[in-house]
Amino acid sequence: MLTVSSTDRVFILAGAGVSAESGIPTFRGVGGLWRNYRIEEVASPEAWNRDPRLVWEFYSMRRRVASAAKPNPAHFALAKLENTLQERLFACTQNVDNLHEQAGSRNVVHMHGELFKSRCGTCSRPPFDDTNLYEPPAEVPRCECGGRIRPHICWFGEVPFELHRIYRALGQCTLFVAIGTSGVVEPAASFVAHVNGRARTIYVGPENPANTSSFTECYLGKAGEVLPDLFGAL
Ligand code: OAD
Repeated sequence: MLTVSSTDRVFILAGAGVSAESGIPTFRGVGGLWRNYRIEEVASPEAWNRDPRLVWEFYSMRRRVASAAKPNPAHFALAKLENTLQERLFACTQNVDNLHEQAGSRNVVHMHGELFKSRCGTCSRPPFDDTNLYEPPAEVPRCECGGRIRPHICWFGEVPFELHRIYRALGQCTLFVAIGTSGVVEPAASFVAHVNGRARTIYVGPENPANTSSFTECYLGKAGEVLPDLFGAL
């Protein structure tokens, strides 16, 4: 069990493994959802320019999978942690589903975007809620300006959202906890190196991540089984 003192500031970095027990497959593990698609081929500006209907087909499928999912004990443990620590917790997720919010979290930064939001790829109209499925034979939706509506997702080659806030929180944290993330996708994979030497660094997941040498402690197990007890004493 982790000891969190009254002065600790906790940074959570969640990855696909946090939603795995909710039935949303990870990207790189066995049984990955996106196995029929190579993620790099459907999640990039090049893919969007080449074949926007294929990109919407992929994100429509992901919307359908995520709509059917319910939060698991890992999401509830993180919501409870937010309730306890309040502003001393900074929760950053790479996940684009809304399971953290469904579990009661109110302040999660979605650095890779949100599956149930879309935005215009051309004009500055702000992102908007969108649960529609745009699957063939449906056409790619259009904005009033004529531009194509795209998923509000950070694709490969794009800059993640809210990096300024994220690095400020990394600079302040004393306890860094990464959960269910393989440690290969930048910049998230380097967050732990950014805080190393200043903060305790913990990893939670069933196997060691690629950047395991940067962590001071690893708790091997499923997030839904480890997290409720890890923070249980708070
Ligand atoms: P990955 O699919 O790369 O890694 C998922 C990790 O979750 C693996 O290390 C698994 O060991 C672990 N895992 C599996 N089941 C778990 C469980 N029950 N509890 C805890 N951990 C478990 O996912 P991410 O590292 O999150 O980006 O991927 C990062 C980014 O790559 C994604 O956000 C996505 C993808 O390309 C974009 O789409 C922009």
